[in-house]
Amino acid sequence: MELLTAIRERRSIRKFKPADVPKELVMEIFNEARWSPSWGNTQPWEFYVLVGAALQKVKDMSLAKTIAGEALAPDVQMPENWPPAMKTRYMEIGKVVLTTLGIKREDKDGRNKYYQDMLTFFGAPCLILACITKENVVEYPMHDIGLITQTICLLAQEKGLGTCILAAAARYPAAVRKIAAIPDDKRIITGIALGYPEQANPINSIDRTRMETAEFVRWVE
Ligand SMILES: Cc1cc2nc3c(=O)[nH]c(=O)nc-3n(C[C@H](O)[C@H](O)[C@H](O)COP(=O)(O)O)c2cc1C
Repeated sequence: MELLTAIRERRSIRKFKPADVPKELVMEIFNEARWSPSWGNTQPWEFYVLVGAALQKVKDMSLAKTIAGEALAPDVQMPENWPPAMKTRYMEIGKVVLTTLGIKREDKDGRNKYYQDMLTFFGAPCLILACITKENVVEYPMHDIGLITQTICLLAQEKGLGTCILAAAARYPAAVRKIAAIPDDKRIITGIALGYPEQANPINSIDRTRMETAEFVRWVE
């Protein structure tokens, strides 16, 4: 697959088929993704790949804690406020997703059902958790996690798989560490849901917007 095609066709997948992803395919992705750049070649990342019973336990925990209204305790603070333009874009994506699913603003049950779907990672049979060690600072390792995360998503796209990067998978890291035997000195930065997309589901073909290039590139001579 052409790089340009992978870049343009990658999109967040919000409904997966239950079919498992072969371990060899996931490992092929990591074998290539490890060539991602990082600060001073420190390669600060560590990944935990959850499937089967372990993943189901994480899904059950995530759902139970959310339904119980347990306060989020992420290892990396989730943003609550954005500058206005960003907030508008953030609100817009939520609106497009719910509208596509036919969920009206006042339909609390419908919205809850969608959020529950998100908290069970949209049915993905595989969840990759990107971690860094607590010994390290957060800032540049976060940057490097971003680089390798996009590389993973593009490689997955190239293999006919779909992904959704999920902050929602990093809400209750202490419980996830326990279930997945992730050492306590690892910070869980983000999740990547991985699987085969349900292509016919309209949620996987929502209209997405981007700024015009001239809005965010300043050319300085
Ligand atoms: C760090 C990060 C966290 C994200 N967390 C979530 C999430 O919790 N739930 C979700 O539905 N999408 C999540 N996304 C996906 C974004 O909403 C998505 O990338 C954005 O709307 C652009 O759409 P696209 O990926 O289809 O191009 C996340 C993306 C990133 C980069």
